[in-house]
Amino acid sequence: MNSSRTSKLRLGILGSGKGSNFRAIADAIAAGLVDAEVAIVLSDVEDAGILALARERGYAAEYAPPGRFRTKMEPEAEARLARRLKEEKVDLVVLAGYMRMIKAPLLEAFPGRIINIHPSLLPAFPGLAAWKQALEAGAASTGCTVHFIDSGMDTGPVIAQAEVPILPHDTPESVHARIQEAEHRLYPEVLAAIAKEFRPPS
Ligand code: GRF
Repeated sequence: MNSSRTSKLRLGILGSGKGSNFRAIADAIAAGLVDAEVAIVLSDVEDAGILALARERGYAAEYAPPGRFRTKMEPEAEARLARRLKEEKVDLVVLAGYMRMIKAPLLEAFPGRIINIHPSLLPAFPGLAAWKQALEAGAASTGCTVHFIDSGMDTGPVIAQAEVPILPHDTPESVHARIQEAEHRLYPEVLAAIAKEFRPPS
């Protein structure tokens, strides 16, 4: 048996990049704004900033080798990742810049318990570089969406959104930076609300 758990919501964070959303979440937890705890941070990229950041802050942080595919994990690799999250008694899987599609092994291990943040107002602009898509489409505004993960690409039920304007002299980089500021507020807010409703499994 693993050691006993507290009654707090336990987060398993998955990311592939620099981890600025994870930083915002960890800061909000440290400030007492989100009543949750980070159980583990996992990345499919061995030298990802998110792992370095997690280690700096004293969290368990591990590389999860993805196997031979580029856009998803190999099924055995994803099953291993799911087992790792279970071992750490994760209640909610939080995707924070995780760049692979989630498939059956993880979806079935955490049904309805995987959330993601996407840099557009879904269903508009799913997929990669959504801020660039919005700018190129001539949209007057864009934003970010926290949503549940299902088997589609950026298709799961929306939990919350935040809108930001697109201004006349914007570049893809300036739009992305404005969206990220909104993300860093929205993701902790959503997690605070989920944590408040959370009851630990008996
Ligand atoms: C964010 O813009 C998020 O919307 C997208 O990936 C990016 C991750 O950035 N899913 P970071 O690693 O949290 O800085």
